[in-house]
Amino acid sequence: MAAIVPLCFEIDSSLPATPVRVAPSARLTDDAAAALAMLIPLLGCGEEAAAMAFDALSDIAAFQIESEALGVIASEERVHDALLRGIRAALPVPVGTERLLVSARRFHIRLQSGGPTAHLARIAALDAAVCLILGRLTQRQGAVARDPVICGVLRRIRNDEARHVAVARQLVMRHGTPAALRDTAAAARCALADTLGLVGDAFERLAVDPAVLDRGIRQLPDGLLKA
Ligand SMILES: [Fe+2]
Ligand SMILES: [Fe+2]
Repeated sequence: MAAIVPLCFEIDSSLPATPVRVAPSARLTDDAAAALAMLIPLLGCGEEAAAMAFDALSDIAAFQIESEALGVIASEERVHDALLRGIRAALPVPVGTERLLVSARRFHIRLQSGGPTAHLARIAALDAAVCLILGRLTQRQGAVARDPVICGVLRRIRNDEARHVAVARQLVMRHGTPAALRDTAAAARCALADTLGLVGDAFERLAVDPAVLDRGIRQLPDGLLKA
């Protein structure tokens, strides 16, 4: 098997997910395929970061009881990474993603500051934002929905992320003070929105209004970090 080249982070390959093959998309328009090709590496960088984060969190003594659940999420993130690699291979090679990936990498590194509970609060907030993004991208009648395979993969990731939000949120409830972490989580959503601002044009070409998406991401869901 060819070596897997990371997008942003070298994830531990002791448990590699099985590679996924997605047939080259003939259903998307050329413009939609090119636009989606810009966004997938950004999501892939998030999956690499998430796999690393959940691996590390599952090793923390304070989270010993939840260690297994955290380990399961880490392996799901590896599967997401493999799924997104499959989609990337089915799309044209994007140009000019270097700056974007540098920004994404920096963004993910900053998420770790303040300790594991703050990190989990940010993860809950960001996975909820990923649900929002994937929900918009895969909406019925949307540009991506024309390709049922790619759309199905993205919907599957979205459903997993919704579960990750619930697990991360529960952990924050148990180990931290959720209300005190709202600002931390809200700041992470704003930083994500700033990074996504670099690809507003790609969202627009996929019939997702970037301004509406930006507003949605900057708004932390009310009930997310409430006891
Ligand atoms: Fe994921
Ligand atoms: Fe996740």
